[in-house]
Amino acid sequence: MIYSREFCWRDYDDVAALWAATGRDVLPRGELTAKLTRDPQLFLVAEVDGVIAGVVLGTYDGRRGWILRLAVDPAHRRQGIATVLVGELEARFTTMGCPRVNLLVMPDSTAALRFWQTLGYLPMPDVLCTKPMGDTSRQPLG
Ligand SMILES: CC(C)(COP(=O)(O)OP(=O)(O)OC[C@H]1O[C@@H](n2cnc3c(N)ncnc32)[C@H](O)[C@@H]1OP(=O)(O)O)[C@@H](O)C(=O)NCCC(=O)NCCS
Repeated sequence: MIYSREFCWRDYDDVAALWAATGRDVLPRGELTAKLTRDPQLFLVAEVDGVIAGVVLGTYDGRRGWILRLAVDPAHRRQGIATVLVGELEARFTTMGCPRVNLLVMPDSTAALRFWQTLGYLPMPDVLCTKPMGDTSRQPLG
C-alpha cells in the first residue's frame, strides 16, 4: 500500500538518504526551512509499509509550478510510487490555481524521460541558463 503525505522534519534523515542513494543533490536543512515557509504542502513523501520509499519537492511561484528532486528507492521502483507522488502533487498545484507545471530532466536520463512522458510531460527545446546569486560556491540547479 502506497501512502503519500506531506513531509515533516522527522523524515529529513530518511529523505536525505534517499536522495543520496539515487544520486540527487541533498537539500540542506537551511534551504528546506526557507522553502517550507512558502509552500510546505508541495513537499511530499511516499511510504510503503511505514518506510519512506519516495520523495518529490514541488514549488509554486504564483505563475508556474516546478517539480524537483523526485526520487524513488531502487528497491521499490515500477510499483507506481512516483506516479502516486506526482499525481498528488498535481492535485495540489491545481487546488492552488497553478496553470502549468515545469521540470528539468538531464538529457541522458532515458528512464526519467520515459517516466515523465508517460505522465504527459513533453520535452521543450529551450536551453536552461543559470547564474548563482552571491556566493559562487557550488549550487545545484534544482
Ligand atoms: C524515474 C523514477 C522517479 C520513476 O519512479 P517509479 O516509482 O519507478 O515510477 P512508476 O512506477 O510510477 O512508473 C510509471 C511508469 O513510468 C514509466 N517508467 C518508469 N520507470 C521507467 C524506466 N526505468 N524505464 C522505462 N519506463 C519507465 C513506465 O511507463 C511506468 O509504468 P509501468 O511500470 O507500468 O511500465 C525512478 O526511476 C527514480 O527515482 N529514478 C532516479 C531519480 C530520477 O531520475 N528522478 C527523476 C529526475 S527528473
